[in-house]
Amino acid sequence: MARFPESFVQQVAQATDIVDLVGQYVALKKRGREFVGLCPFHNDKHPSMTVAPHKQFFKCFACGAGGGVFQFLMLHEKYEFPEAVRVLAERANIPLPRLADSFEPRAEGAFVKQDLLKATAFAAEFFQQQLRTPLGRGALEYAHKRGITDASIERFGLGYAPDGWDGLAKAAAKRRLSEELLLAAGLVARREEKRSCYDRFRNRLMFPIHDQAGAIIAFGGRALSADDPAKYLNSPESLLFDKSANLYMMNFAARAIDAAGQAVVVEGYLDALIPHQAGVENVVATLGTALTERHVRLLSRWAKEAVLIFDADEAGAKAAERGLEVFLAQAIHVRVATIPAGKDPCDYCLSDGPEALRALIDSAPDALHYLWLLRQEQVLAAGTNLAERRRVMEEFLRVVASSAAYGAIDDIRKGQLAQHIAHLVNVPADELQQLMRRLSRQVRHAVAPSAPAAGPRPEQPAGGDLTDLAERQVLEVLLAEPDLFDEAAERIAPSDFANPTFRRIAQAIWDIAHAGPFSFESLMVREELAPLAGLLAGLAHSGGARGNYHDTLRQAAGVLHYRSDRLAAQDLRTAGTDDALREYQNKCKASDVRRRPRVP
Ligand code: UTP
Ligand code: MN
Repeated sequence: MARFPESFVQQVAQATDIVDLVGQYVALKKRGREFVGLCPFHNDKHPSMTVAPHKQFFKCFACGAGGGVFQFLMLHEKYEFPEAVRVLAERANIPLPRLADSFEPRAEGAFVKQDLLKATAFAAEFFQQQLRTPLGRGALEYAHKRGITDASIERFGLGYAPDGWDGLAKAAAKRRLSEELLLAAGLVARREEKRSCYDRFRNRLMFPIHDQAGAIIAFGGRALSADDPAKYLNSPESLLFDKSANLYMMNFAARAIDAAGQAVVVEGYLDALIPHQAGVENVVATLGTALTERHVRLLSRWAKEAVLIFDADEAGAKAAERGLEVFLAQAIHVRVATIPAGKDPCDYCLSDGPEALRALIDSAPDALHYLWLLRQEQVLAAGTNLAERRRVMEEFLRVVASSAAYGAIDDIRKGQLAQHIAHLVNVPADELQQLMRRLSRQVRHAVAPSAPAAGPRPEQPAGGDLTDLAERQVLEVLLAEPDLFDEAAERIAPSDFANPTFRRIAQAIWDIAHAGPFSFESLMVREELAPLAGLLAGLAHSGGARGNYHDTLRQAAGVLHYRSDRLAAQDLRTAGTDDALREYQNKCKASDVRRRPRVP
């Protein structure tokens, strides 16, 4: 995803009104100079969320969520920061910056994503039209034969790539989309011997693949006849399309996944589409690759639980096992459903109906149980060879232990799990727990801690100690009254902050203020501060209610100085040499009167 220049992000922020944006999702009522509404980020009974137009922030006082316009979309739509910027830029009709002034590395010639998106959008439109021409009759019949309704064709944008070699290329040329552009978007391929290009997709039923924000980034094409050597042909990876980071139907499924807290992952286009059509809408499909860690991270933004459905064959079992290990390493609960009798989810949904599919999903066994069932076959195959049985069991437990080491499992669940596994492997629970502890120690040594999860962090605790309170007050004043920055900077510096989070915020404020005017909004356009947005909005809000800024600032600064003095004095006592004393005296001379450290 592109990293936009800060000036652009600022422009987008300025063009977006927070009341307007939040008002699209939440009914807001005016109260004083602010607005209040039910917070969409927790199960809110009384309006706990404030939206402040003068500072362009929202803040929920019940769950702590807060921030500016980008952070609202990040939380609500589970976007990454750049996605939120892109979507709001489009909403405000601000053209995305060209490559020359963005930081995106040049790739695929001189094209940027925005160019490629034009090509894919055009191609999708072209394919859709073709499906409704006499040439598309065969594909339309095929779609119907597979159980796809006209409404679904419309909704999911299905189309037909005609059988010629240059249908798309010619139509694109009329719209003045260059061959180079089509090439970069993976829509045509170049003949090696000649310099000419030909359509990549020919005589296929076309499935557009969308990103989470709904832009078309690639296609999958289904052959219409069984004797085609390639049943499916997918767009190659491009600037737009990364198979390991995208899932088919993610854009259509996001809301249902969020609502259910559950994502169902299948392997084929129709295995996702047909359930959607039948009203089972929390389904996504991988795109001809194994499930990756990035897929899982994407899903875990929305879901607490994933249900994997793999084909009931050997390859399906292998994929299940691989997929499971990816999931187990992350904080998301996994179950595995198996479709009976050699069917896939698409067939099953068509033959047995969506309720049956739902029931199968809801009764799917825990991933560990499923994994153990697979391993158990190995155990049985090992017969009475005890060493082999033990090896298989330990291998199984190692997978479990590694998930625990990643913090995926809390202590209560660990206990339940140990019981569960003890039962599964038929080993006494205490022996098993001992074994688990040993394995998990080994695993902990072998793995680095995982990156912190995305999403809002818990707020900084109110801070029992006085200096923590003083640090908070300084920030509150600055966020509420940015004009007092100079006055604050005369007295204190970011290094006076001991609380690492507060110091990070102070450093950002000082950086911005030294480069130009500082405001709450100027903090909200910084991607790296997005995780602190809730805290920042809270500080801005309580600062706004405080008043008496000069005195607050002076007193808070005094507390921080007093602490610095005490620390300096401690240093002196421990390092009490002549040199240290001279150095201290020099420091005193150099420093501002107000900042002079006192020797107690
Ligand atoms: P399957 O072979 O299970 O196909 O491949 P399917 O989805 O059941 O297809 P239908 O029902 O016969 O139409 C699963 C997925 O693997 C990828 C596609 O993403 C497909 O949906 N695949 C499969 C390819 O990329 N190329 C192929 O030739 C076959
Ligand atoms: Mn199928």
